[in-house]
Amino acid sequence: MTLEQMLKLAPVVPVLTIEDEAHAVPLGRALADGGLRMLEVTLRTSAAIGAIRRISAEVEGAVVGAGTVLNAGDLERAAQAGARFAVSPGLGEGARPDGPIPLLPGVATASEVMAALAAGFEYLKFFPAVPAGGVAMLKAFAPVFPKARFCPTGGVSVENAPEFLGLANVVCVGGSWVAPAAAVRAGDWRRITELARAAQLLGA
Ligand code: 3PG
Repeated sequence: MTLEQMLKLAPVVPVLTIEDEAHAVPLGRALADGGLRMLEVTLRTSAAIGAIRRISAEVEGAVVGAGTVLNAGDLERAAQAGARFAVSPGLGEGARPDGPIPLLPGVATASEVMAALAAGFEYLKFFPAVPAGGVAMLKAFAPVFPKARFCPTGGVSVENAPEFLGLANVVCVGGSWVAPAAAVRAGDWRRITELARAAQLLGA
């Protein structure tokens, strides 16, 4: 599956910070059951790599990737654990679209979009979306960078997601709101499936 196909699986990519590896599979299933199949597990916890490994092996239908990928070592570790894609908050030095797994680099300014396009990327994470200018910034990018497609992440919510998703240069949005930490801790998977279902409908 290409990065484009993954990004088009659902309007929202859940951004997951998993503290306990035992949560990975039920969380992944809860989200996939609600229609969100592309899942980003951030490499911010010691459980992250194990969580990617388990979701990739055990959650049917899920397409799991790694987020907060900061360097080539992170990318390699994620790919070895079974990540199908990687997301980075920025454009790392030497980052290329043809690495071990597809990469969605982060950009927040026109210069960064230019650098990412020059490196061969077409799909970009707009991060942090709301602090970096939100919908107005993406509207301003559209005529200048007609080839760039964005996945805004950072401050995106169920309330503001529709406005982002209505832009022609937005392919999907990323957000942590579909997997609130309290619901994960409590094992409230039904709640997470409900949130995922509501997020999935944002694209309808
Ligand atoms: C990310 O890692 O992309 C963001 O931290 C997710 O942002 P959110 O928590 O505001 O959704």
